Amino acid sequence: MSNADLERIFDTSDEWIVTRTGMRERRYAAPGEASSDLSTEAARHALDRAGLRPEDIDCYVVATVTPDFQFPATACIVASNLGAVGKAAFDIEIACSGFIYGLPMAASFVRAGVFRRVMIIGVETLSRITNMEDRGTCILFGDGAGATIVERTQAERDSFLSCELGADGRVPELLYVHAGGSRNPMTQELLDQKKDKVEMSGREIYKYAVNKMVGTSKNVLAAAGYTAADVDWIIPHQANLRIIEAAAKRLEVPREKIVVNIERYGNTSSATIPIALSETIERGDLHDGDLIVFTGFGGGLSWGSIAWKWIG
Ligand code: COA
Repeated sequence: MSNADLERIFDTSDEWIVTRTGMRERRYAAPGEASSDLSTEAARHALDRAGLRPEDIDCYVVATVTPDFQFPATACIVASNLGAVGKAAFDIEIACSGFIYGLPMAASFVRAGVFRRVMIIGVETLSRITNMEDRGTCILFGDGAGATIVERTQAERDSFLSCELGADGRVPELLYVHAGGSRNPMTQELLDQKKDKVEMSGREIYKYAVNKMVGTSKNVLAAAGYTAADVDWIIPHQANLRIIEAAAKRLEVPREKIVVNIERYGNTSSATIPIALSETIERGDLHDGDLIVFTGFGGGLSWGSIAWKWIG
């Protein structure tokens, strides 16, 4: 779905969208294609790249706000699609911070010896919950999936250096779907009002996003004994190019060290970071010992950063 496609649906312009967000295209899942389908593809890709079989993964975790069903967990379906019936599987739901919360959790499982290998998938089919009559939000969101495998290695070094995660649930309405949960069960009236779709206060989110990305990035680096000058890559949540660039400027990290693919995919919520990580690997840009900061924010409100050493 390009900006030109959106121009045909409502009153907007490529110039407005590019200037305000940096986005040029976003992808929408095909009719009938669900989050578990996208996840299964991403999972297969990750397994191939790692030279592993589905049964080599002890636990499947899916981070999403667009599960196939209210329950059961999408992760159960994904593991079974892969033929890994019987393995642990569950979802986490912390909106766009899903991968930022999921990666340290996976690493902690591995570190504690609970599991040898954990797959953490970030996936969204946000096109299902965007209101195409709300031009202020629908331009932002796309669909996608990214999968990562965390495993215990023999290496003496540890990849997971530090993390800082946070949340503030005082004003959930800043970014939420009003209806369909236990607070406001779905009614025909709410459906008619499109209360099954995402609503957002863009301006407020913008301000807190930059502050949280900068603050937590600095904190995780300090906790790991580094400064911004040591960073090889920042892989941020892709919500808005202006947010990413403002954060990079305040962190004083050169633009070429910031991974950005927002122009092609828009905001795919919990999928943005694993997709960006995957593309960085594909380009051959990640090298053994590289220091990465993953940083993000989202509905909740929620936020976090991770300092990570690439071993490979
Ligand atoms: N095309 C053209 N005009 C649009 C538009 C669109 N798609 N969407 C909004 N506008 C108009 C508004 O109607 C408004 O017009 P007005 O001044 O005549 O009322 C004007 O553009 C400014 O709107 P505003 O919403 O104040 O723009 P903004 O500069 O805050 O940019 C966002 C909007 C959404 C791009 C920006 O606030 C943002 O990115 N916020 C963060 C959102 C986010 O990251 N969410 C996900 C978190 S995980």
